[in-house]
Amino acid sequence: ADDGYELWLSYRPLADATVVKRYKAALQTLVTEYESPTLTLATHEITRATAGLLKTSLVRAKTPAQGSLLLGTPRQSPLIASLNLASLATLGDEGFVIVNTTVKGKPCIVIAANTDVGMLYGTFHFIRLLQTQQSIQNLSVAQAPVIQRRILNHWDNLDRTVERGYAGFSLWDWHKLPDYIDPRYHAYARANASIGINGTVLTNVNANAQILTEPYLRKVKALADVFRPYGLKVYLTARFSAPVEIGGLSTADPLDPAVKAWWKKKIDEIYTYVPDFGGFCVKANSEGQPGPQNYNRSHADGANLFAEMLAPHGGIVMWRAFVYSNETPDDRAKQAYTEFKPLDGKFNSNALVQVKNGAIDFQPREPFHPLFGAMPKTPLMLEFQLTQEYLGFATHLVYLAPLFKETLDADTYAKGKGSQVSKVVDGSLDHHTVSAMAGVANIGNDRNWCGHPFGQANWYAYGRLAWNHALTAEAIADEWIRMTFSNDPSVITPVKAMMLSSREIAVQYMTPLGLHHIMGYNHHYGPGPWIRDKPRADWTSVYYHQADSLGVGFDRTKTGSDALSQYAQPVQDLYGPLANCPEKYLLWFHHLPWDHKLKSGKSLWDEICFAYYHGADSARWMQQQWNLTEHKVDDEQFQHVKSLLAIQHQEAVWWRNACVVYFQTFSRQPIPAGLEKPD
Ligand code: GCU
Repeated sequence: ADDGYELWLSYRPLADATVVKRYKAALQTLVTEYESPTLTLATHEITRATAGLLKTSLVRAKTPAQGSLLLGTPRQSPLIASLNLASLATLGDEGFVIVNTTVKGKPCIVIAANTDVGMLYGTFHFIRLLQTQQSIQNLSVAQAPVIQRRILNHWDNLDRTVERGYAGFSLWDWHKLPDYIDPRYHAYARANASIGINGTVLTNVNANAQILTEPYLRKVKALADVFRPYGLKVYLTARFSAPVEIGGLSTADPLDPAVKAWWKKKIDEIYTYVPDFGGFCVKANSEGQPGPQNYNRSHADGANLFAEMLAPHGGIVMWRAFVYSNETPDDRAKQAYTEFKPLDGKFNSNALVQVKNGAIDFQPREPFHPLFGAMPKTPLMLEFQLTQEYLGFATHLVYLAPLFKETLDADTYAKGKGSQVSKVVDGSLDHHTVSAMAGVANIGNDRNWCGHPFGQANWYAYGRLAWNHALTAEAIADEWIRMTFSNDPSVITPVKAMMLSSREIAVQYMTPLGLHHIMGYNHHYGPGPWIRDKPRADWTSVYYHQADSLGVGFDRTKTGSDALSQYAQPVQDLYGPLANCPEKYLLWFHHLPWDHKLKSGKSLWDEICFAYYHGADSARWMQQQWNLTEHKVDDEQFQHVKSLLAIQHQEAVWWRNACVVYFQTFSRQPIPAGLEKPD
């Protein structure tokens, strides 16, 4: 039985005999001409893949024979150099080419890149072609990533608990590091390399300064040494008050010479352990974390302190824009823009501002964050959350690629039509030379890595989109299903249908029509629209839905918080006038009467009820789709997903009943005819 440990790299034998025969003919000999740690990884991988998928073993050789696969870089491989692959010139350090060609008179498939890591990415790409049963004739692949730094953020604490983690404890066994190297560290790096993820922030944004002490830096070095051949760089979170906490200083003021000297020494020390250290991710002056504002300094002052010390080493600082405070009575959705927009142009060139996809907090659906497009002089990172803090943890099946795409494809209109978030983030809109994306990891030490077997698809999709944000959610799902479960259309069709609808279904049974942040207090699991009387207004649910006897929704237009004015005019014109506002964002931007008529002709109240009922019914439909795969996918995984989908359905009903009955206390209207009464 497959417990999911091998992720999308399980290399089960391919079922189609014709395809296997064709692949075998093309893949008889593996030709390499030099040795390097990364080349060894690539040759092991292709050997493992062909042994699993084709049940064949490649013959190793130094020169091509009939049906050869040739791997390498032109710098180290004379055979590849002799091919003069012109396209390599434009593909940078991580791109690759895969071509069918003739080498020394023999038909060959060549995987070439400017670096070994690029070649490893090409190898995984080629293996994916095999796993998904694509043709490997007339190949002419040339790819390079659109985003430079494709990073996972682990919210992992040093005691191995994981903030908002639902897949067990942290993978990092700090206690046994650096002397014990858990084989999972290799498996983790391998999985990331297979989808092009090239960076990992090991520690929680709510940082513990201890990670910067010498004993921990030795442990970090051990991990970095494992990850390096896979092209995976290590980053850490820096606690702003570290100079006080572990440095013995009396201040952490970023402009204080002693503080600067302390960070310089610390950062130089880190690079003695990890010469290719990626840099820091910093959460400051947010949710009680220390930061420059404690010393009346700005976010830019704080970020630049790190940027300056990291620059000589080629490191970056990723300064998070997720800030909000109770002292500001204004709409929480406005705070990041209010604080950061005036600082545009004040950040050093290796300081990136890391912005969540939406302005509140990883809700099932949010409009894109208004900072995208608003800070043209600053490279902005996009932060997604793979761990399902607000989407049913690792219990509910929610395929997140449609959510990611919704943000990436959203048009900011910052430079007119066609100024999508994706172009802000990849640097092309404002001509930035550095670009990055972050995904808050959903990975823990559960034996299947992500808790829910379908959680793996979100890790996979994030990596694929960071590599190429033009890929569709559908194409990514298709690949992942084939690689994970089967190439059988009778599996692919229902599973893909279920995956592609799953996010919309979750939105319907949790927060339809632009509702948001009405989940259980603090833990964020399950419904809690009734949450009130907390120490801060923005920790309650009533703050966000604003339901009363007259209506429901958060007015963010001019008559309300005016958060809408943070967007470019065409976006305001889209979301402001009721006639234009997409209904999926209706209650995000508007407070509307219960009997407001929607496009369907139904009243707002009726439509809310229909959405919740439809969402819950669709959770049942998901169970039916999955049941179609019985005996066609691994039985253990089948049963696991089946059980989780049953919980998901029960909980969709729970959400529906709780929300409908709660909002009914305001609307004072009956459940529309045709819908059953909540139990
Ligand atoms: C959310 C989450 C916190 C996390 C924070 C952040 O608010 O609930 O646990 O620390 O985001 O992104 O910093």
